[in-house]
Amino acid sequence: MNVLVTGGTGYIGSHTVVELLAKNHQVTVVDNLCNSDQSVVERIEKIAKSPVVFKNIDVLKTDALASIMGNSSFDSVIHFAALKAIGASTQKPLEYYKNNIGGLISVIEAAQSAGINKLIFSSSATVYGDPDFVPITEDHPLKTTTNPYGETKQMAERIIQDICKATTLQAVILRYFNPIGAHISGLIGENPQGAPNNLVPYLVQAAAGVRDKLTVFGNDYPTPDGSGVRDYIHVVDLAKAHVAALSHLDNQSEPTSVFNIGTGKGASVLELINTFERVNGVKVPYQIGPRRPGDIASCYADAAKANEILGWKAEHSLEQSLVDAWRWQQTLLK
Ligand code: NAD
Ligand code: WQD
Repeated sequence: MNVLVTGGTGYIGSHTVVELLAKNHQVTVVDNLCNSDQSVVERIEKIAKSPVVFKNIDVLKTDALASIMGNSSFDSVIHFAALKAIGASTQKPLEYYKNNIGGLISVIEAAQSAGINKLIFSSSATVYGDPDFVPITEDHPLKTTTNPYGETKQMAERIIQDICKATTLQAVILRYFNPIGAHISGLIGENPQGAPNNLVPYLVQAAAGVRDKLTVFGNDYPTPDGSGVRDYIHVVDLAKAHVAALSHLDNQSEPTSVFNIGTGKGASVLELINTFERVNGVKVPYQIGPRRPGDIASCYADAAKANEILGWKAEHSLEQSLVDAWRWQQTLLK
């Protein structure tokens, strides 16, 4: 298939482009590089040994997008481009609503003008808020999130569902749990600007001595060891879920479908630190600190639906994810 990928030089997008190319799909990447670097394009090409068309464009520019979409017959759009920092979304809500909601609307308008009627959208487990039960199934109610970023994901899902009901557009909404790790080549991975917000990028920097120490945000949660529990999924497994979703979308009968993309297993912060130290033979300097406002105790997926319908399941272990995250940190330090 011929696929347009927005946000394709970003963390999840770049790994997905590699997996799409591995399955012989043709890929055009659109990214304005606000949170990534153009060198990622060459790195993707090096891994995949095939070319990628790259366009430096802001997805808010509907006319420019429509012109790219109109010049090539794309079968589908995978829309990753968005801003994703929870804290920044509270400080700059307008930027987040504009980029994430305005961007989605712009992408759909451009796609419609070019006659493209298949969309895969990056949603997040954050739409479940503080869950009523774990593992979380897709029919778990969507709850108020504590930040504008989470709200943009809930709104985006509703917008997609309304448009798909009213038009020929069909979409797959993927709710990602916590992506970690990096490509085994050590050529692509997550490259956070400034101090990382997420656990694994912070942990690897603390282990490498780039940060003083990791703070474990709370050890008094109602979890087996008191630290927060999440569903950490290797980014390559997550990328492969998009390839599976693309095939499914080709034969999808309903306007939209929604899938949890996680491993189905929860791991605590302390478990993650211990596993990292064991598999990499490196100590993680850490201290126990207070809970981070807005955090929840436990969040992990029931990923049975993706397994049954998409024929997809996560294959990498937590151990492998943490080995790959550490290898990628070595690349960043070079
Ligand atoms: P990322 O920041 O690494 O990648 C996003 C890419 O989109 C970047 O390359 C950025 O330059 C680009 N971009 C942003 N705004 C743009 C615009 N207006 N026009 C063109 N390009 C633009 O983030 P990621 O972790 O790869 O996340 C990808 C998607 O997955 C996002 O929609 C994010 O909300 C969602 N998601 C991420 C996580 C996570 O933990 N990483 C979890 C759940 C959902
Ligand atoms: C994981 C665990 C923290 C940092 C966020 C978004 C979610 C999704 C993924 C986009 C928690 C603990 C963290 C640290 C710590 N993104 N922690 N010390 O909060 O589960 O999810 O990223 O959609 O929407 O909310 O991920 O990696 O920040 O935290 O102890 O320095 O690690 O308390 O238990 P989170 P995270």
